[in-house]
Amino acid sequence: KLDIQKALPILNGKVSSHFSPITKFEPKLLIICGSGLGNLTTKLASKPHLIVPYTNLPGFQSSTVQGHSGELWFGHLKDTPVIIMKGRLHSYEGYDIKDTVYPIRLLHQYSQKYCNSSLKGLIVTNAAGGLNDSFKIGDFMMIYDHLNIPGFSGNHPLVGPNWDEDGERFLAISDAYDFKLRKLFFNKFKSLQQQGLVSTERSVHEGTYSFVSGPTFESRSEARFLKAAGSDVVGMSTVPEVIVARHCGWKVLALSVITNNVVTDLPQKATETIADEEEVPLDKGKANHKEVLETGLLAAKDLELIVESLADGF
Ligand code: 6GU
Repeated sequence: KLDIQKALPILNGKVSSHFSPITKFEPKLLIICGSGLGNLTTKLASKPHLIVPYTNLPGFQSSTVQGHSGELWFGHLKDTPVIIMKGRLHSYEGYDIKDTVYPIRLLHQYSQKYCNSSLKGLIVTNAAGGLNDSFKIGDFMMIYDHLNIPGFSGNHPLVGPNWDEDGERFLAISDAYDFKLRKLFFNKFKSLQQQGLVSTERSVHEGTYSFVSGPTFESRSEARFLKAAGSDVVGMSTVPEVIVARHCGWKVLALSVITNNVVTDLPQKATETIADEEEVPLDKGKANHKEVLETGLLAAKDLELIVESLADGF
C-alpha cells in the first residue's frame, strides 16, 4: 500500500498554516488538467491559495512528460473551493498504474479526515485522438463510457488488496459518468457559445474513450480495432483516475479535447501498381505530440471557461 498515512499530515499541516480554522479549506471538487489544459490555475482567486509540489508528498512521484509540471493547487474558482491537479502521472512514464491514481486516494482520505463535508466530485480533462468520423479537431467530447484496454490483462488500478475504507471489492463501472454533470456541462457550453464566449466552430459530443498505455500512438490496425469495438476517441490517461474516483464514491465528469484525427485507412500496397498521382504518402495524417499540445492549448481557453462556470454551481 502507498504511504498515505505519512503524506496526510504534511498536506494538512501545509493547509492549516495558510487557512485559519475559521476559514478551513473544504474542497468540493478535484480538477485534473490534461496536456496543455493546465492553465485553469490562472482562474483561481489570487488569495488565498496554496501550491504543493508533488515532490513534497511521500509516495507522490513527480511528473516528467513535457507540458506537465506536477503541483496540487488549493484555491477558489469563483466562490467554490477546489483542488487543481496540475500535471498527472501516466503509466507510459513507467509508473505502476496504482501509483498514477495515488493523488485521488490521498485527497479522498485527506478530505475524510480533515474536512466536514468530504470531497465528492472529479472533473478530469484529456487530449484524445478522434476515431469517430463526425468529430473535428478542436471539438469536445464528454466521456459517457470507456474501454479500459490495459485492464483486460490485469493492469488495472483496483487489482490487489481492496481499500475497504474507500469502496467495495467488486465495483460496478457501468454508471461511472454522471448524467447530471454531463447535462450541466452541455447546457453551460450552449449558453457560453450563445453569448459568444466559446467558439462557434466547436461542437460538443458524447462517446466512448479507449484507454491505452502508450507511449506509441496507434498503428492503423490498432485504431481500426478500437473503432470497431465502439470507441469514439483514444488516449493515454483518465480511465484509471475515473475508476478510483468511483471507488471512492465521487461523481465524475470526464472531458476530451479532440487534438487530432487518428488514421484508420490501411496503408497502400507496394505489390499493387498504381499511378504516381494516386500514391498517398505513408506519413499523411501521422500523429505527433506537438499537434496534440498546440490544439490542446487553443481549446483550453474555452474549456477553462466552461469548467469555471460549472464549478461555480457545484
Ligand atoms: Cl492519436 N492516441 C493516443 N493513444 N493518445 C492520444 C492521441 C492518439 N491523440 C492525443 N492523445
